[in-house]
Amino acid sequence: MFEGLKTLPADAILGLIAEYKRDTRVNKIDLGVGVYRTAAGETPVLDVVKKAEQRLVDTQDSKAYIGTAGEPGFNAAMQTLAFAGHGDADRLVSIQTPGGSGSLRVAAGLLLRANEDTRVWVSDPTWANHVPLLGGAGLTLQPYPYYDTQQHIIRIDEMLETLRTASPGDVVLLHACCHNPSGLDPSEEQWRAISEVIVERELVPFVDMAYQGFAHGLDEDAFVIRHLADKVPTMLVSASCSKNFGLYRDRVGTLSVLCPDSKTRDVVASQLSNIVRTIYSVPPDHGAAVVSTILNDDKLTAQWHVELAEMRDRLRGMRVLLNDALGKVAPDHDFSHLVRATGMFCFLGVSEDQVNRLKKDYGIYIVGSSRINVAGITPDNVDYLAESIAAVL
Ligand code: LMR
Repeated sequence: MFEGLKTLPADAILGLIAEYKRDTRVNKIDLGVGVYRTAAGETPVLDVVKKAEQRLVDTQDSKAYIGTAGEPGFNAAMQTLAFAGHGDADRLVSIQTPGGSGSLRVAAGLLLRANEDTRVWVSDPTWANHVPLLGGAGLTLQPYPYYDTQQHIIRIDEMLETLRTASPGDVVLLHACCHNPSGLDPSEEQWRAISEVIVERELVPFVDMAYQGFAHGLDEDAFVIRHLADKVPTMLVSASCSKNFGLYRDRVGTLSVLCPDSKTRDVVASQLSNIVRTIYSVPPDHGAAVVSTILNDDKLTAQWHVELAEMRDRLRGMRVLLNDALGKVAPDHDFSHLVRATGMFCFLGVSEDQVNRLKKDYGIYIVGSSRINVAGITPDNVDYLAESIAAVL
């Protein structure tokens, strides 16, 4: 039966985890998959998560099914976190999903049911899994210009020009913050300009927010969602709790859909329920129960804000550290885009061959596009990292 199948190459991002593990060099550095690390190179469970988990152990009295949409308390809290009251509540439906990827997949199902020819515009470049995930679900994807690899800036004029050619009803996938892979986000002024085109052309914004709180703050990072929610009839938002709650393997996320009216919202809610039932039936509960416990308790929420700010500040600090270290060993090269970007990622701006040499000769693991996860940088490894980069330039 399976004779005709071929072995596929490992995933461009997840494959690096196994390669890094196999490497026995003591000075190896993992700048691959988007996982937060402390200065000690660890990805610990947040203290606030431990507290919420303890509370659940003490009080949760059932593991019975929770239904296709998940837990209402979680969905309401996550909706508030993203929308903060923007967008008419009667027109909004939010469901709990298995991570941001599960959310994207359910959204793809909904878009295809609405129109099997739905076209989705995606940034060039975008998260390496956006295209296989959304394209594999059956959506037609079309790139819009986003990142200038030479100047390390957003190609805002070309992006707007391209979106002006989109047809009414086309979907535009936007990264709310911490654009993956470039780390460069539009300014508020640029978001306003993008939103104007979306409204003018009657496009449907689909915002992927996998890093809320990692760029500037929870509110600042949701700017485009709140701005658009007051302007457009229809919008989709996929949110993930993998990074900001450190719940990667627990698979926690939401899909929110803003509809033109409450009647359509009810129709969409029933479609979402049916799509979920036919893919994974019901979402996993534990991580969402943890997030719900935190977000529905003022003290735990305040503690989460502190731990989130610590992660954000460390990422910012490591960008500055690497830029400074590179300035010393490679003074002829400009790496200032490292500090202009936010969140976990940015491009180093080296060739695939140089990426391969960093891996082979120095044990430094980077995605082939030269995307680095700055969380893998520490005060202890930054000099070795900068010298290795300089050596391959
Ligand atoms: C990443 O981009 O590294 C993360 O979002 C993890 C993943 O699933 O690719």
